[in-house]
Amino acid sequence: MPGIASAIRNVKRAIQRPFFGRQTARQPRLSRADTLPPGAVSSLQNYPSRIGDYTIDRQIGSGGFGLVYRGHSRATDKYVAIKAFHEGVAPEFLHREKDALFALEHVPGVPTFEEVITEGNRQYLAMEFIPGETVDAQLRTRRLTGAPFTPTETRDILLNVLAIHQGVYGIKNEAGQGMVHRDLKPGNIMWRSDSRQHVLLDFGLATHEKKSVDGDLLCAEHVRGTPAYMAPENFRGFSAHLGSEFYAVGIMAYELLTGRTPYRVNESRLSNGAMFNMYAKLHGNKKFPALPLDCNLEGQNPLVVQSIINHFVSKLPTKRPRDHREAMRIISALAPRDLGEIR
Ligand SMILES: Nc1ncnc2c1ncn2[C@@H]1O[C@H](COP(=O)(O)OP(=O)(O)OP(=O)(O)O)[C@@H](O)[C@H]1O
Ligand SMILES: [Mg+2]
Repeated sequence: MPGIASAIRNVKRAIQRPFFGRQTARQPRLSRADTLPPGAVSSLQNYPSRIGDYTIDRQIGSGGFGLVYRGHSRATDKYVAIKAFHEGVAPEFLHREKDALFALEHVPGVPTFEEVITEGNRQYLAMEFIPGETVDAQLRTRRLTGAPFTPTETRDILLNVLAIHQGVYGIKNEAGQGMVHRDLKPGNIMWRSDSRQHVLLDFGLATHEKKSVDGDLLCAEHVRGTPAYMAPENFRGFSAHLGSEFYAVGIMAYELLTGRTPYRVNESRLSNGAMFNMYAKLHGNKKFPALPLDCNLEGQNPLVVQSIINHFVSKLPTKRPRDHREAMRIISALAPRDLGEIR
């Protein structure tokens, strides 16, 4: 039944896409005016043979923002990834990603910025091409055999992500506030086949954390992220911060170990003003879903694994890890070298 299979695939893709919401001071509002509805086909679907000085040889990805092509420069004999934003996407997102890549130039595990290409009234973002596959693609392959990542593999992936993220967060603005990614998820992490290292992609939502001088969270001007990975306080209109990044790490831990995210979010149901409804539906007074009983934990105590995840996904941001050091220490316990240490 290809019809049903493709409908299921479309819903699954919609769940994984980020949304871009604008909010007023108190009541967050969602608007998808600057993106395409899930499942819509962009006019960029037939890819061009050239963009700027690059020959395009294939499409390498697609997402909520646009399509990504591989381009080759004859002059430098170098491959680049070229992000072509969907026609309705505000130019702000291209410039935000460009500025972030520029600022992150010396941070390991982030693609280097190449150039912004302007052709007619369209702009494209060219960056270092990363050979390999996303962790999401790896997870999909594993789902076919029914075996998601082991606790050891999950630990290693998340330790790598946290190490990259520490570098990202180390890039401060004038107010001394660190950069946050705001869309941490397996689809934005690549396993680089040449150097066998992880790379963090997709800085289209990156911004600097905003907190009051006392460290209190502030209302966000825009509420953005991928719902399945968003922290409850973000749904309630507070801006992204280190704690909400750690929340996404906790969701990823659950997903890598079980093959699915703890919350199934049908993003297509979102409309203006729907964020509080989604907050109530996903979070409200509900407890975080427990790990399924059939989860293969390599003999690791399920209660220990659950408590590690719970630490990251606490509804209270103050109960999540305080800094990267603490986050890494807790994630390391997913598969301690000596299991006796934590039992
Ligand atoms: N520099 C790169 N090198 C290789 N592949 C890349 C690169 N950048 C992006 N891709 C591929 O393109 C896909 C989409 O890229 P990206 O996540 O930046 O777009 P997006 O539209 O913001 O996605 P989404 O909205 O789903 O988060 C990635 O999952 C990856 O497969
Ligand atoms: Mg992405």
